[in-house]
Amino acid sequence: MDKIIEGKRSVQGVISVPGDKSIAHRALILSSIASGVSRVKGLSTAADVQSTLQALGDIGISIKKDSEFTLVHGVGIEGFEQKRGKDEAEIDCGNSATTVRLLIGLLSGAQIRARLFGDASLSSRPMMRIVSPLKSAGAYIGSIDGHLPVVLSGGRLKAFQYRVPVPSAQVKSSLMLASLFIDGTSCVEETASTRDHTERMLGLMDGGIQVEKFDLGKRIFIKGRKPLSCLDISIPGDISSAVFFIVSALISSSSKLEIRDVLLNPTRSHILDILKRMGGKIEVEVTQKKGEPVGNIFVESSKLRATEIEGWEVPFIIDEIPALAVASLFSEGSTSIRGAAELRIKESDRIKGIVAMVKSFGGEIQELEDGFIINGKGYFHTTEVESLHDHRIAMAASVLALAVNGKTLVKDAECVDVSFPGFYDLLEASTSM
Ligand code: S3P
Repeated sequence: MDKIIEGKRSVQGVISVPGDKSIAHRALILSSIASGVSRVKGLSTAADVQSTLQALGDIGISIKKDSEFTLVHGVGIEGFEQKRGKDEAEIDCGNSATTVRLLIGLLSGAQIRARLFGDASLSSRPMMRIVSPLKSAGAYIGSIDGHLPVVLSGGRLKAFQYRVPVPSAQVKSSLMLASLFIDGTSCVEETASTRDHTERMLGLMDGGIQVEKFDLGKRIFIKGRKPLSCLDISIPGDISSAVFFIVSALISSSSKLEIRDVLLNPTRSHILDILKRMGGKIEVEVTQKKGEPVGNIFVESSKLRATEIEGWEVPFIIDEIPALAVASLFSEGSTSIRGAAELRIKESDRIKGIVAMVKSFGGEIQELEDGFIINGKGYFHTTEVESLHDHRIAMAASVLALAVNGKTLVKDAECVDVSFPGFYDLLEASTSM
């Protein structure tokens, strides 16, 4: 489906965005190995989350929904391992790297036989970063050059110590999930901080987790085979989705927007600090501090200035960079982002995607191997822009189109459903000429 966006529009009102995707994956997975029924409120209907839901169903976990809650019938660590006697599970992970990477860790730990596959984009993404440490720990895993399909055929894991060589919460979390099934204490180390939802959730569930921090990194010790208590959580709005509306309000005139109940975990909310240092008028009202911090965000039209993004900041804003690129197009000066080579192996090569999108609107951007430099100029022309079937590129292009006079066509815009079903309806409802 192609989408026509008509600019120039301002953004107004009070909105909320779907529940956080990263927390949703973890809540479903960890609840299924907890003992008893977990209650999860605010589970997003995003396609990625549905992939995890479906996968756990395929393994035999009962997950039911009523009007408010998703109820996950956890079977405990040992109950989950008992699924291993069954035929090889066929698991379609769709477009979701978090689903496949977290499940490879979980199922390897439990020695459940499975074949995991996904769509063309997911099949091109690297899995060796997960497969290799798990194989070293004792798992039997087959793959084609470290790509999907990945076949798990058991293998008893031994306690391990592993330093994650790339800043990746998916790799860290996958190994943490595997270690929950292992006798003894395993250690996962990261030298650059990444999102910490797995650590927080395991803490809430009385998992045998201990964290030792150093410089920018941490060592996570997990004592395996400890029964997990059930979850009762309400998932806050996804800041990686909210950012498209925040940027839209900042760059358009006469805009004033409130976004309610958004996740403010510091490993995710750093984009707000960056937009503020660019001159963005953004206020935050914290409404919950325990577990995962949550709050309301207030944004107004702002005069922005360029900034330099340093390497340590990248893992904290990895999913927000397409939206940040749009903000920098409307900022005075040159904004540079370096140390972001991971962007090349997301749902698409996002460095190439951002460069092509910006050029398509007549913007000035220089491609770097590990990022880009954007010259803010503030006026652009309408275009027909490729989404590359990448949800975050489609949403960034749509937000840019809103700030441009005339009609822009965003191609294959239905991909936004991967993370943000209802994105276009909300855009329509909260913007006016
Ligand atoms: C995620 C981690 C990030 C992020 C992805 C979700 C997660 O990936 O880009 O959208 O939920 O752990 P990496 O950890 O591979 O950078």
